[in-house]
Amino acid sequence: MAKILVYIDEKKLEVDTGKSILEVCRENDIEILTMCHLKGITDIGACRLCLVEIEGSNKLLSACTTKVVANMVVHTQTERIKKYQRITTELFFAERNHVCSVCVANGKCELQNLGYKVELDHIRYPFLFPQCNVDTSHAWYVLDHNRCIMCTRCVRVCGEVEGAFNWDVMNRGNQVRIISDFNTPWGESETCTSCGKCLHACPTGAIWPKAIVQGQLNKNPGMITELIAKRKMGL
Ligand code: SF4
Ligand code: SF4
Ligand code: FES
Repeated sequence: MAKILVYIDEKKLEVDTGKSILEVCRENDIEILTMCHLKGITDIGACRLCLVEIEGSNKLLSACTTKVVANMVVHTQTERIKKYQRITTELFFAERNHVCSVCVANGKCELQNLGYKVELDHIRYPFLFPQCNVDTSHAWYVLDHNRCIMCTRCVRVCGEVEGAFNWDVMNRGNQVRIISDFNTPWGESETCTSCGKCLHACPTGAIWPKAIVQGQLNKNPGMITELIAKRKMGL
């Protein structure tokens, strides 16, 4: 594969063409915050956490969906980027109803970890306190819309890895919701195989198994990545 030179945070890197900025950063120990990215599934640039500055462009671009090009100069840690990471994190918490102390994911949540990462000590935006359903209709799993950040990792894993296409997205703005089949209770789905991949892909306490209580959620999103890698190798 052809190699090109790129410059990220003053590091001069020789990389393969066709890679995203995020892939290159991860391969070179350059930290980029992400939430909707899950290695192996298609990136869609939904969460806007991975924004980077690229010299010559006024716009901030998402590292997960922007490919490196020869002689690109990228900055990942500027004050402008940190400001947007903080705003995005605050909005995640303000948009739904996150009560960590009673959440199954407490202590093991990617959103909670993000809050620590950006040193979130207060939220400047009004909490929306939306009325959100909790779908307990599935025999084994629960979908709690209160804790969903609309990353769509569940949607993409269900379609791209399991091939079931149970999950989709309905509505826009603050009415946007994850839906099962054509917005029917999850337990009545004709497409869900009950494989649990969405549960492992979900970064928060929005999808969880019924048999657990506060703080007991143990997810393994890396298992999805490994599964995809093995499939690519024909294993
Ligand atoms: S999903 Fe994460 S951030 Fe939201 S309530 Fe649960 S632990 Fe807290
Ligand atoms: S249920 Fe989980 S994986 Fe699905 S969109 Fe919401 S936060 Fe993301
Ligand atoms: S990880 Fe790039 S936009 Fe979410």
